[in-house]
Amino acid sequence: MKTAKPFLKWAGGKTQLIEQFLEYFPKELRNGGLVNYYEPFLGSGAVFFFIANNYSIKSAYLSDINEDLVLTFNVVQKNVKGLIDELYDLKKNYLAKNETKREEFFYEIRTKFNQEKSKIDFSNYDDGWLNRAAMMIFLNKTCFNGLFRLNRKGEFNVPFGKYKNPAIFDEENLLAVSEVLKIAEIVTTDFEKIKTKIKKHFFIYFDPPYRPISDTSSFTSYSKHNFTDGDQKRLAQLYHDLGKNGNKLMLSNSDPKNENGKDDFFEELYKGFNIQRVKANRIINCMSEKRGKINELLITNY
Ligand SMILES: C[S@@+](CC[C@H](N)C(=O)[O-])C[C@H]1O[C@@H](n2cnc3c(N)ncnc32)[C@H](O)[C@@H]1O
Repeated sequence: MKTAKPFLKWAGGKTQLIEQFLEYFPKELRNGGLVNYYEPFLGSGAVFFFIANNYSIKSAYLSDINEDLVLTFNVVQKNVKGLIDELYDLKKNYLAKNETKREEFFYEIRTKFNQEKSKIDFSNYDDGWLNRAAMMIFLNKTCFNGLFRLNRKGEFNVPFGKYKNPAIFDEENLLAVSEVLKIAEIVTTDFEKIKTKIKKHFFIYFDPPYRPISDTSSFTSYSKHNFTDGDQKRLAQLYHDLGKNGNKLMLSNSDPKNENGKDDFFEELYKGFNIQRVKANRIINCMSEKRGKINELLITNY
């Protein structure tokens, strides 16, 4: 079976950076000494998939504050065959249309997705989740840039993407993803609540929303709430607390020094831990001449 990889496009997805993360993973993960994994800012799950494909972890707790993301992961885990059937129907319907009709269809699905939200019980899995997960994947692959953005009312408001031939889903990959998710518990929660789940000897990877690099930087609101400096501080406190009990912690974020060499925000918050820098290919603001390699911080407690 093919190895599992992300089935959603997600802002801040780590697929491109994993090769560089490798040497910073704890050695106990590589030699089989760490078998419990936690990822509290799941997003598209790029790091979880890499770890599940390559190391022998036995349990994984995956969480995110985005309830539609978590719903979709749960459906892939619990009813992948049903999901593939729904996706085939959506894809067939969509690809049979010309561009104007495709755009109309996209907005119909977007409206349905938003109207039905209040009827969904996000805390208890039920059959109603199936159709919503299919709509989530469809919208993600046909909307502009694969963004997930909500307005203040909590409605998904990303416009149509105008792709010629969007690969809405990859059946083989969804089956592989469902397989690796068998060891996982996937829940919607704020990162701070994970405290109660963590016991001893976990490997925990934190990938919070980036601290905006500049006032002009675009995106990123994954939920109704922005991730503020106050949240970054809350996270640093949690990091300090969880470092006990033999847990291995790794955290990534964009380096504020990319823009302002004097910005010591993360050095202050994570004083006493190991702070490494790896190179990321990312647009740091709207000006194209600023595109190119910038630093990403990698903070470990080992
Ligand atoms: C940078 S993305 C993670 C990307 C992921 N590593 C990947 O490879 O796709 C950050 C994630 O944090 C989630 N998030 C934002 N605020 C949160 C909070 N307070 N608690 C938990 N998750 C949160 C967002 O929904 C988003 O999916």
